[in-house]
Amino acid sequence: MKRGVAPSIIAGDWGRLGEEARAVEAAGADWLHMDVMDGHFVPNITFGPDVVRATRKAVSVPLDTHLMISDPDQYLERFAEAGSDMISIHIEARPDPSATLRRIRELGRQAGLVINPPTPFGTVEPYLGEIDLLLVMSVRPGFAGQAFMPEVLGKLSQARDWRERHDARFLLEIDGGIGPDTAGSAWEAGADVVVAGSAVMRQPDYRKAIESIREA
Ligand code: DX5
Ligand code: ZN
Repeated sequence: MKRGVAPSIIAGDWGRLGEEARAVEAAGADWLHMDVMDGHFVPNITFGPDVVRATRKAVSVPLDTHLMISDPDQYLERFAEAGSDMISIHIEARPDPSATLRRIRELGRQAGLVINPPTPFGTVEPYLGEIDLLLVMSVRPGFAGQAFMPEVLGKLSQARDWRERHDARFLLEIDGGIGPDTAGSAWEAGADVVVAGSAVMRQPDYRKAIESIREA
């Protein structure tokens, strides 16, 4: 994938989630990013599989499901069944993620691994051969609208180098504080896909917002 943009629905209007999903799809979104928070792994609560299922009915773009939950294993079947295409779990929630990643793939979904800003690259390195997607957080997870942390870009480049050395094919995604001003550095560091919450969903023109991120 080249310069994919995945708008995050949590930054949209919660009273019209279906319409918001259709609007960003029509505006050229490559994926729809779904931020699932349990109030335990992160200090905020969003939604679960039922909202994924409703969104699945509204759009046909891939649903990129970012699980910020303490016990992902217990919910994998439900998110898969609800229509998630990618299911990503945090290394901080599952320090030994192999079985969980395998299960996601057995369910016919793409398996992603997510790494928080303070967590070093070495923590995910042993599992890079087992994933379809590596998601590098560029804010502390929990809320849309936070400031981008440029210090995580080094991890993107490390992952890109690793992928080249090992002839692997997982995609590289970055999430948090991405907009026209920060996306350029993310593309340069190796991102294939960027998540954008506020920089798309809180702008008047979704298409323009997506294009300005793609072309940053
Ligand atoms: C943060 C979420 C992000 C967030 C992105 O916990 O994982 O996906 O919604 O929103 P912005 O782009 O506004 O930082
Ligand atoms: Zn996210």
